[in-house]
Amino acid sequence: MATADDNQSDTEFSPAVSLEALEETGRELVSIDGTPLAIFAHEGEVKAVNNRCPHMGFPLVEGTVDDGILTCHWHHARFELSCGDTFDPWADDVQTYPVEIRDGTVYVNPNPERDLPPAEHWATRLETALEENLRLVAAKSAIGLLDAGVEPEEPIGTTIAFGTQYRESGWGSGLTILGCMTNLLDDVDPEDRKRALYTGMRHVADDCAGEPPSFDQPAFDTTEVTFSRLKSWFRDCVEVRDADGAERCLRTAVAADYSAAEIAELVVAGATDHPYLSNGHVLDFANKAFESLEETDWEHAETTLAALVEPLVTAARSDERSSWRQPIDLVALLEDTYGGNVTETSGLESLAAASGKTDTDEPWTPPADLQETLLGDDPEAIVDALAEAIRQGATTEDLSAEVASAAATRVAQFGTANEFSDWNTVHHTFSYANAVHQFARRTDAVETYRGVFDGALSVYLDRFLNTPPAPIPTPGENDTGRDPDAVRQGVLETFDAEGEVNEAGRLVAEFFDCGGDPADLRQTLGHGLLREDAGFHTLQNVEAAFRQAELATDEREQRQRVPLIATARYLAAHFPTRREAEQTYTIAARLNRGEAIHEAAKSN
Ligand code: FES
Repeated sequence: MATADDNQSDTEFSPAVSLEALEETGRELVSIDGTPLAIFAHEGEVKAVNNRCPHMGFPLVEGTVDDGILTCHWHHARFELSCGDTFDPWADDVQTYPVEIRDGTVYVNPNPERDLPPAEHWATRLETALEENLRLVAAKSAIGLLDAGVEPEEPIGTTIAFGTQYRESGWGSGLTILGCMTNLLDDVDPEDRKRALYTGMRHVADDCAGEPPSFDQPAFDTTEVTFSRLKSWFRDCVEVRDADGAERCLRTAVAADYSAAEIAELVVAGATDHPYLSNGHVLDFANKAFESLEETDWEHAETTLAALVEPLVTAARSDERSSWRQPIDLVALLEDTYGGNVTETSGLESLAAASGKTDTDEPWTPPADLQETLLGDDPEAIVDALAEAIRQGATTEDLSAEVASAAATRVAQFGTANEFSDWNTVHHTFSYANAVHQFARRTDAVETYRGVFDGALSVYLDRFLNTPPAPIPTPGENDTGRDPDAVRQGVLETFDAEGEVNEAGRLVAEFFDCGGDPADLRQTLGHGLLREDAGFHTLQNVEAAFRQAELATDEREQRQRVPLIATARYLAAHFPTRREAEQTYTIAARLNRGEAIHEAAKSN
């Protein structure tokens, strides 16, 4: 017969049920201090477990006990009855409780000491969630960790380490989503921070499921290699798709303690030696890898950045795509500007040198017609305008912001009569342009100009998707005087029905016109995003839009509005979904809070 732990005082135990009654029925459901307990008489012993199945809350008192195993009847999870450990990791372990028999009555301690403090327990469960690709356990872990006061950087670091180690094909959509979710943490409300973490974790787990692990190519034994030589070797290896060589160069550059800006230069060089790699995904992945390190710890740079090598060396190169060659040879335009070849930079260096600009000079300001040119249908004029801007002293950051703005406009003006899949086309360009912009803020590498030109020509290639352009409301056009909170609620409601794309954009404009705070709007859009089964591109789109809106200066308010109008339209086009992930999240939250889900226990 199980007895109470010697250290536990009598006062911790409460009477639960008479032993005679229990032995007659074999099981009893009682509630002590609000805790629902399933108490079993089995093989001459008494055992108590939490009545809520840790999987989805089914009453375990209705389960089967046989041969020391308790089986839940809903999805048939099995638990070792005396300790509560599960045979089925997707279900989680069930809490057990010490029991004591006194004078024919079963006493139970409903508040035993936990084996592990909550932070440690949920950190361990997160590892299981990642290893076994368990969505419910991921949700419970995200909620449990943040409720335990753990800083999100910790589980994010664990998830990045898992994602980079257990995916031979390297950095993919899962880790990119995790990076997007990390960036959204400051934009959303506290409950949605948990949803964001859960979203990132489950996508990384899903991305790694069934994948072979990655085996490292270590850094060279020597770190006595100049940066320029390592950069040149790295580019050469990427050029011939030599993953092992490229990884050793990249790891050596990190091991040699070259600065984060220098490592960013090396990566952006490799990622722009050919235009618009894999529809922009490669540079976008690289940007997210750097952002993840900036949010967590540069200490993990070697492993994290090594995961970029595989997507780099396997990338589709847009100079090999017919759309970049015909009817106008866009690649030839780039080659002329870069210095004779897409891998060159000498032409760009000459343009920058011609400006003679110094740090004390006035910042470059864009010509009034630059956006019109970028959104026009003359690729030569686009390339000339960008080249002239460099000659006039425009930095990579200046020009990447201009191209990102044009790319956001393409999304904001996307015509709903287009094929639905073309939302991805304009999204890819926008996401890429945002990544170039972010790289320009971390390194002044001349290669970043190539990202600017490549992005601008992708904006050009997307021009027919704005035919006719959906109108972007001008500031003041929707000043209805309504309460901005009511307007943003209206934005959320457009995601509940189909066909509300243009209304979503209009409401965002109205929100601004009515004096709403962009931070409130971001919170609402973030909530709208995280309650849906949003896909990779949708998650990327919102995060990029938030970053671009934030980077826009106050003097150019339309620059803040357009990315948010664009992403609200994008969301409205893709929502509503079945909200299955949210259903799992809701169950996890209720289970973690100890809420009754199915049973009605007798209260003692
Ligand atoms: S196995 Fe018990 S609720 Fe699913």
